[in-house]
Amino acid sequence: MQLQLPEASVEAQRASRLLHNLIATEIRLQHGWISFARYMELLLYAPDLGYYSGGAAKLGKDGDFTTAPEITPLFGATLAHLTTELLVSSPALQPQILEFGAGSGQLAYDILTELASGENGSVGLQAYYIVELSAELRARQQLKLQAFPQVQWLDRLPESFSGVVIGNEVLDAMPVELVLRGAEGWLQRGVGLSQTGADGGDGQFIYIDRPAEPALIAQIPDAESLTVGHLTEVHPVAIGFMRSLGTMLKAGQGGVALFIDYGFPAAEYYLQQRDQGTLMCHYRHHAHPDPFYLPGLQDVTAHVDFTAMAVAALDTGLDLLGYSSQAAFLLEAGIGKLLLRTPPENALAYLPQANALQKLVSPAEMGELFKVLAVGINAELPARFASHDRSHRL
Ligand SMILES: C[S@@+](CC[C@H](N)C(=O)[O-])C[C@H]1O[C@@H](n2cnc3c(N)ncnc32)[C@H](O)[C@@H]1O
Repeated sequence: MQLQLPEASVEAQRASRLLHNLIATEIRLQHGWISFARYMELLLYAPDLGYYSGGAAKLGKDGDFTTAPEITPLFGATLAHLTTELLVSSPALQPQILEFGAGSGQLAYDILTELASGENGSVGLQAYYIVELSAELRARQQLKLQAFPQVQWLDRLPESFSGVVIGNEVLDAMPVELVLRGAEGWLQRGVGLSQTGADGGDGQFIYIDRPAEPALIAQIPDAESLTVGHLTEVHPVAIGFMRSLGTMLKAGQGGVALFIDYGFPAAEYYLQQRDQGTLMCHYRHHAHPDPFYLPGLQDVTAHVDFTAMAVAALDTGLDLLGYSSQAAFLLEAGIGKLLLRTPPENALAYLPQANALQKLVSPAEMGELFKVLAVGINAELPARFASHDRSHRL
């Protein structure tokens, strides 16, 4: 496929070639085939060279994509108010936050700034933990959050945690497996190499399909009804992550975990009409579907199957506390009131904030595609969240 996208710098292209060679070496060592999830893991997280581990700007207007905390501090302020409400109403929760995949550190910054302002009553937050896979992003977070001594970085999930867990656009950044309905049954789509060129250089990445293990297809409801040629994703890494999260919260005996991301319940995800799946690449704010383009310089992501996430959490003994659109969730959590702290008469300050909020809640932008899944133990969301709850659709 010939893509017309902005050209990468010479240095970035060199890093991309190094990552290509690293992945190609692994494919050869694995006798010519690696799973797509392994390919995606290396693309995103190979030390120093992967998209999240390397030097790309990634988030914000100079990067490849934008997330809610990069759009407005109202997002973090709203989560700060909800955290306070949860901590006050659920005595089983310890006053601490654990954030997964903190990106630039903006969300943590906005939450901690709001909590420090005292505007929502003091909860005396004991600690703000961050688990971040990318050493490069962790260094950025450390710089951004140096004014907040309560922030601590963890190398892995703790065995036990009690408090509030937050993950914004983290589940979509976890490697997925590609599966394809073939004439003889389901296939697992992996990555191999084209014949090495006459110059002895590395071959190009190509897809190679193999019969899929039945366990891989078990996530797809009514898989046999999907027609030959149907391509989609399954999410074993994110499912494993949700199970570990469940075990951790169960051991802590009190927790609410909020995952905010784009995605659908399984019944909508695996619709016949969605026959090319949801895998998407983001390069300098252009979206396209080719994960072989400039390895390490573009984000590769897939939508979240929220049914699979909820089932994995429930399997470990957590409760399903809620599932709603981002719009309904943020509005119930009070984002509208926080906007009104800026008087509408002050148009110069108010209008950009109102415009940003509109991006988060408008059904045409992030309001409907993005969902919030809440799971937990010995805790509940405030009762008003029930009015927009869509847990029955999972
Ligand atoms: C799309 S970015 C979102 C960043 C940030 N949460 C935001 O909203 O701007 C995905 C983030 O998740 C991190 N990540 C992916 N898998 C992770 C995991 N298993 N544990 C912790 N962080 C992870 C990435 O390194 C990156 O920081």
